Amino acid sequence: MTDSKTVTKPWGGRFTQATDAFVEAFTASVEFDKRMYQQDIFGSIAHATMLCHVGVLTQPERDSIIQGLQEIELEIEQGQFVWSVSLEDVHMNIEARLTQKIGAAGKKLHTGRSRNDQVATDMRLYLRDEIDEILIQLRRLQSALVTLAEQEVDTILPGCTHLQVAQPISFGHHMLAWFEMLKRDEARLMDCRKRVNVMPLGAAALAGTTYPIDRHFTANLLGFEQVAENSLDAVSDRDFVIEFCFVAAQSMTHLSRWSEELILWVSQQFDFIEMGDSFCTGSSIMPQKKNPDVPELIRGKSGRANGNLITLLTLMKGQPLAYNKDNQEDKEPLFDSVDTLKASFRVFADMMPTIIVKKENMRAAAAKGFSTATDLADYLVKKGTAFRDAHEVVGKAVRYGIDNNKDLSEMTLVEFSQFSSDIDEDVYTVLTLEGSCAARDHFGGTAPSQVRQAIQRAKTYMSMSEEKV
Ligand code: ARG
Repeated sequence: MTDSKTVTKPWGGRFTQATDAFVEAFTASVEFDKRMYQQDIFGSIAHATMLCHVGVLTQPERDSIIQGLQEIELEIEQGQFVWSVSLEDVHMNIEARLTQKIGAAGKKLHTGRSRNDQVATDMRLYLRDEIDEILIQLRRLQSALVTLAEQEVDTILPGCTHLQVAQPISFGHHMLAWFEMLKRDEARLMDCRKRVNVMPLGAAALAGTTYPIDRHFTANLLGFEQVAENSLDAVSDRDFVIEFCFVAAQSMTHLSRWSEELILWVSQQFDFIEMGDSFCTGSSIMPQKKNPDVPELIRGKSGRANGNLITLLTLMKGQPLAYNKDNQEDKEPLFDSVDTLKASFRVFADMMPTIIVKKENMRAAAAKGFSTATDLADYLVKKGTAFRDAHEVVGKAVRYGIDNNKDLSEMTLVEFSQFSSDIDEDVYTVLTLEGSCAARDHFGGTAPSQVRQAIQRAKTYMSMSEEKV
């Protein structure tokens, strides 16, 4: 509920004229920053507790502030709180309501504090909470991926470069490539969280405050690992927001690429997988259609994540120290990147277990396109031919195969003898899809034995990251 009737401004003392009605609406942020009400209240309770600890507030004042703030939190949660655009933002709305409820003590809450350090604190508390939520969804996705990889270690599909059949690979190996990207996304989020978890409170407007505040005491109450070292930097810096939006854009880029593969794989042309009906939609005109809307939407949403990053970089460029109202524009892009990333990880994690792998189709596609040609070249090298010469020989064999509509594994030894005298009966073991995969038997390779070990490492990694947050 938002009320637009004009109320007395907390900063109204030096003004003789009322704010222009349109300017009031134009400068207000309450419609979107009210999302941080919990963090605002949490921060205010810690601030009041600290002020009492250093003797600026009495204990009864502190207690009445805390009780008032807790009641306000309940009012907001129950939808009874009346938000006022005239009170500009979440901070002044809550403070005004506190004074309305508890009287004089409410007016003392803002002692030794400014909205400048207050909003920077709220943003950091908010983002810290959201990063933890996002990590939960990301880890669900990692685990869904490893489950699928484990089920499909021995399933072979064509590995591609340039979207052309290149070499046969294990489907489990393919899934673990996505797992590696998610590992880096996770590491970036956790690293970003360290720089988010720094407390600006106490910087006040920009220069600090004349009260004997104890910033480390407040930081301890709020769970901040560090206290911002410089008051000017503390109120003006938003690079933690920019950094998160980069991490979100990068993660969304990963999900977008992955989505593109899923979209290709469910197409009639590939027909490698099927996705659960509950994650697809139909067409209002073509009754046969089952469209991969979820991955398409995620591919599309990666655009807004990139946009939010550019918005924030541009917002910050050219701002002199310290706080400027420009910074109020940091919220909507940040909230949007948070919502987008969290929802995308969540829906992907839910969707993964509905994927049905069409092993036969994948295998048939891998068998086409001379995917074991490199294996034949390697075979000749092991028999003493130089790799460049072997490449040439196999190129000729492939040309022959194209002209005669035959895969390498279907050629007879007599046919092979036109290209090289070194090809014997044992060649057929390297020309099979299984033989080709199994031969890439080293750390990071696609041999099923290696993929099984990689799955074990992934599981160990996941059990360790669960302990971290
Ligand atoms: N709503 C403002 C913001 O989001 C709060 C800080 C306002 N500070 C000020 N000096 N006007 O940045």
